[in-house]
Amino acid sequence: MNPHVPFYGVSRFYTRNRSEILQAIDQALATEPVFQGSSVSRLEDLMRQWCRRKHAVALGSCTDALTFALTALQVGPSAEVLLPALTFPASIVPVLRVGATPVFVDVEPFTCLMDLERAQGLVTERTKALIGVDLFGQPISARRFADFAAAHRMFLIEDAAQAFGASSDGLPAGALGDASCLSFDPTKVIGVFGSGGMLLTDLDTLAEHARQLRNYGRESTTSSFQQPGYCSRLSSPLAAQLLVAVRHFPERQRQRERLAAFYHSHLGGVGDLQLPEIAPDTVGNWHKFVVRSGQRDALRVWLQRHGVETAVHYPHAACDEPMIQRLRLPPWAVACPHARALAASVLSLPLYPELADEEVAHIANATRRFFEKHEQTR
Ligand SMILES: Cc1ncc(COP(=O)(O)O)c(C=O)c1O
Repeated sequence: MNPHVPFYGVSRFYTRNRSEILQAIDQALATEPVFQGSSVSRLEDLMRQWCRRKHAVALGSCTDALTFALTALQVGPSAEVLLPALTFPASIVPVLRVGATPVFVDVEPFTCLMDLERAQGLVTERTKALIGVDLFGQPISARRFADFAAAHRMFLIEDAAQAFGASSDGLPAGALGDASCLSFDPTKVIGVFGSGGMLLTDLDTLAEHARQLRNYGRESTTSSFQQPGYCSRLSSPLAAQLLVAVRHFPERQRQRERLAAFYHSHLGGVGDLQLPEIAPDTVGNWHKFVVRSGQRDALRVWLQRHGVETAVHYPHAACDEPMIQRLRLPPWAVACPHARALAASVLSLPLYPELADEEVAHIANATRRFFEKHEQTR
């Protein structure tokens, strides 16, 4: 009988660490204020140190962190913002929220990350910012992106939602540019049973702006409402649960690396499968293991039949989402053939620390059998 291998391991992390998680939540509920308790400040301190930043501001989501970074940097209706054409659409939502115009830069077929050479040709006098996305846990090149933003005098915002623990040119994800944004959604390498995010920056004004905006626009010393803000606070029990996830991060990360190595050694050279590779001078965190095949859809059905859930990240180039098509951007702002080709061929295999060795062996065997069978019927 086939095992059932879920795509995400969120509930497995919970059941394996149930007593530690429940104890942390219980302690926070019993001893801290619901908002802005000591668990929140401890989490902010840890993230600030890990990402070598002056400020870390815990928020309700990464989407809010990106929005607050844009508003603090006064990126608004007259601005254009460069974005990669392959990303989770939450990278783009903040640009639309502030009324700026997204300009999509195609991605490199090898790394799936924004192609800076193409970005070069898309800069106009209205380009005010670039949002660089560390996709699938692979960080953008810290040196090249910092140089590019400086050369064109634009703000650099790092969407590091998927990349906690990764690094580029010796710099941790979360350390790059004017602001970096992390997500703690349940599926991330440090995830919460709910929603959460973090804004990281070295700029005092940006951090203060985010602290006000997360709390309806209220300034903390005078308690006066300075601007219309949001309700975007991370609660103390959620922060306490995240502290447990941070404690388990090193050992879980080693396991992710082990599983990625297993896939590489068992799936290399199989059929037309292309395996993910990490660019030189970067260390990825294996948030996702994304393979490519011209037979993606048939492989996906086959794996499902063998009890293996997979996912597609992402089924469309970001510029082809209806919310973007409605903008009727000019063709040069949505020219992204590589992103469209990737959307038709990428497949994410399960990869999380709680995956058993037998399960990952089953996934690799089932994948190999798919290609053997396909070869025989050709
Ligand atoms: C690349 C990227 N950016 C932004 C987000 C949004 O994160 P959140 O759900 O915390 O708002 C995600 C979440 O999945 C993401 O993967």
